[in-house]
Amino acid sequence: MDIHEALYTTRMMRRLRPDPIPLDTQARILDAAVRAPNGGNTQRWHFLAVDDPELIRKFAHLFRQARALEYEKFKTGTGPMAAPAPGADLAAHTETMRRIKGSGDYLADHFEEIPLLLFVFAIDDLGGANIYPAIWSALLAARAEGVGGVMTMVLRNFADEVNKLLGVPVEEGWTMSAMLTLGYPRGKWGVAATRRPVHEVSSRNHWDSPFGVEVPQPLWPAPALPAAG
Ligand SMILES: Cc1cc2nc3c(=O)[nH]c(=O)nc-3n(C[C@H](O)[C@H](O)[C@H](O)COP(=O)(O)O)c2cc1C
Repeated sequence: MDIHEALYTTRMMRRLRPDPIPLDTQARILDAAVRAPNGGNTQRWHFLAVDDPELIRKFAHLFRQARALEYEKFKTGTGPMAAPAPGADLAAHTETMRRIKGSGDYLADHFEEIPLLLFVFAIDDLGGANIYPAIWSALLAARAEGVGGVMTMVLRNFADEVNKLLGVPVEEGWTMSAMLTLGYPRGKWGVAATRRPVHEVSSRNHWDSPFGVEVPQPLWPAPALPAAG
């Protein structure tokens, strides 16, 4: 797959089919992930795949509770989802949150159908900086395999329960960075279009100075050239 297609179309897919992901596919996803940059090449990361239906049922229960907690925070105006970026359109944010909640409800309601959960653990991940390159590589590699999913953090609300269920050696310093839900999507891939354009979120030399180029449309796929003649 062309790298730009992967970069532009790796959407978060919440409607997944229950079909299992073959082991060789999982191997390709993780083998790409471990190529990611990491400070000092210490590779203090661990990827724990969960495909045991009984365990997935237990995580479904926890996930619904953890998500309810996040939406409680949202209602009271706290947590990462509460406020849009300064200067962003509040009505657009409200609409985005409505759509995310809709597809998030689907994910939570059908959690038991997810064929693979991928828990990612790290030691001292520098606020995520040391692990998110690997996580994003995993999602891009999954995209190339036709596998979709979502990166979720909500289970960190129940870190003790997660660690216990998975037997994590917490005394060594491991903490959960994220949990990816992975599977073959029911829907179609498309460009992540609901992003503020480059010129609205970038500047040059000084915060208030224009970046220097306007990008009103996603630049991939490249606009068709006018017909010759
Ligand atoms: C740090 C982080 C945490 C996220 N947590 C969740 C989550 O708990 N549940 C979920 O459905 N999506 C989660 N997402 C996915 C975002 O909601 C998603 O990227 C955003 O809505 C834009 O959608 P798109 O990437 O498909 O364009 C998370 C993304 C990031 C980067």
